[in-house]
Amino acid sequence: MTNEFEPKVLAFVCNWCTYTGADLTGTSRIKYASNVKIIRFPCTGRIDFMLLLKAFANGSDGVIVSGCHPNDCHYTSGNFHARRRWMLFRNLLDFLGIDIRRIRFSWVSAAEGAKWAEVVNETVANLRELGPYIEYRKTADFLAENELNIAEEMEVNNG
Ligand code: FES
Repeated sequence: MTNEFEPKVLAFVCNWCTYTGADLTGTSRIKYASNVKIIRFPCTGRIDFMLLLKAFANGSDGVIVSGCHPNDCHYTSGNFHARRRWMLFRNLLDFLGIDIRRIRFSWVSAAEGAKWAEVVNETVANLRELGPYIEYRKTADFLAENELNIAEEMEVNNG
């Protein structure tokens, strides 16, 4: 048995591209790190970025958000909304002191099984370097105090 740190990663992915791409990774028998648990959404535009903070507050060491490439979203512009939310969210990460390398934002299509493996492996390698996320209590306290205000602000700015 090894004592090497095994990062816990949650991946928030869209059903139409990345989820299908991840499935292709498996059916193509491409090996990749098993540290990731996938949560499927209809579209990245439906991902509430507060869930990312909740993931950290509940013990994740890193997070992946991934969906269809620009102009390939099945709901036309959901991924552009997600990208705008991501830009706003980055500032909050700085404020909370969460290293940006703990979150990977990517586009993976249904045909890119190999790319999904790459995204996961790179994310896990980065997290191994960073070590466990230990500020989960601070993030949980911040969420408890501010979740509603921030969610509203992000929706307003997302217009
Ligand atoms: Fe995949 Fe919108 S359906 S990002």
